Amino acid sequence: MDSYSIALNFEDGVTRIIDCKAGEKVLDAAYRSKVNLPMDCSDGVCGTCKCRAESGSYDLGDDYIPDALSEDEAAAGLVLTCQMRVTSDCVLAVPVASRACKVGQQKFAATLARIATQGDAAVVLELDVDPAAAAPAFLPGQYVNIAIPGSGQTRAYSFSSAPGERRISFLIKKIPGGLMSTWLEQAVPGTMLELTGPLGSFYLREVRRPLLLLAGGTGLAPFLSMLEVLARAGSDETVHLIYGVTRDLDLVLVDEIAAYARRLPNFTYRTVVADAGSRHARTGWVTDHMPAELLHGGDVDVYLCGPPPMVDAVRGHLEGLGVTPRSFHYEKFTPATTTSRFAA
Ligand code: FES
Repeated sequence: MDSYSIALNFEDGVTRIIDCKAGEKVLDAAYRSKVNLPMDCSDGVCGTCKCRAESGSYDLGDDYIPDALSEDEAAAGLVLTCQMRVTSDCVLAVPVASRACKVGQQKFAATLARIATQGDAAVVLELDVDPAAAAPAFLPGQYVNIAIPGSGQTRAYSFSSAPGERRISFLIKKIPGGLMSTWLEQAVPGTMLELTGPLGSFYLREVRRPLLLLAGGTGLAPFLSMLEVLARAGSDETVHLIYGVTRDLDLVLVDEIAAYARRLPNFTYRTVVADAGSRHARTGWVTDHMPAELLHGGDVDVYLCGPPPMVDAVRGHLEGLGVTPRSFHYEKFTPATTTSRFAA
């Protein structure tokens, strides 16, 4: 391999993906890409360039001093970018905002290709990226802001497609009177849209243990992207998805989920409908159908994308079970007129 791809995820959720040549130090690769990562000595002495490796393999060498990076820090995944040489694609969490590294938000254009209506619940929006531009690079789970033509406003949507595709897709909840929903009703293929991103700290980390994925409504989107990445990688890790919705009609793209159960040997899922009048096999809340065995005694990484009350309910449920997962990543979204997202 001549070069590797390094995703730099800044504190404010902005992500920039750079190319790092084999044998090149990450700090040098970043500056070559005009990303001014924090640095001072560039010699393994000051510790200013410390970041956290979220995934990937690398060599830290032995030319730095323990004051800059202690053994415990290195064991915990902290790295010095001025020393680090990667031996695979990597994701690095950079503990400063993108602006501090002179990284602006990236914009790109895409053309409306297809709108696939999912009953009155949602639509799948498919866009084709400009053929002259590179396919958008992002981490599975991240989102972009889409400018709604003529409105001067943007809305945030997670990619439901996998990184590296020229056709990108999004699962969008239909909201009567909502800005995007209203625009989609009369949108015509070929319309150019402006997107800003990728953004967000909610993305799939290196898979080292079982995963529990919790989707609320159109919070399913980022998990479709993650599942596609896992399937392409041939993952055999244990993965369980609980997909909860309000009404029967809100259960969309279940065939796509079922297809992943065929492609991923240890992937299972269940659907849950909150409506007490539903005749679905499982009614109630996601937490009503989350038995302790899905938590593997805490040796599990939990990912949740759903409305704020769902995050609180899952937190309370985990506390009630007395289980602390190895990690708990979540993204709260409010599919209202003003879209806001909070990731952790
Ligand atoms: Fe000083 Fe890396 S810049 S240790």
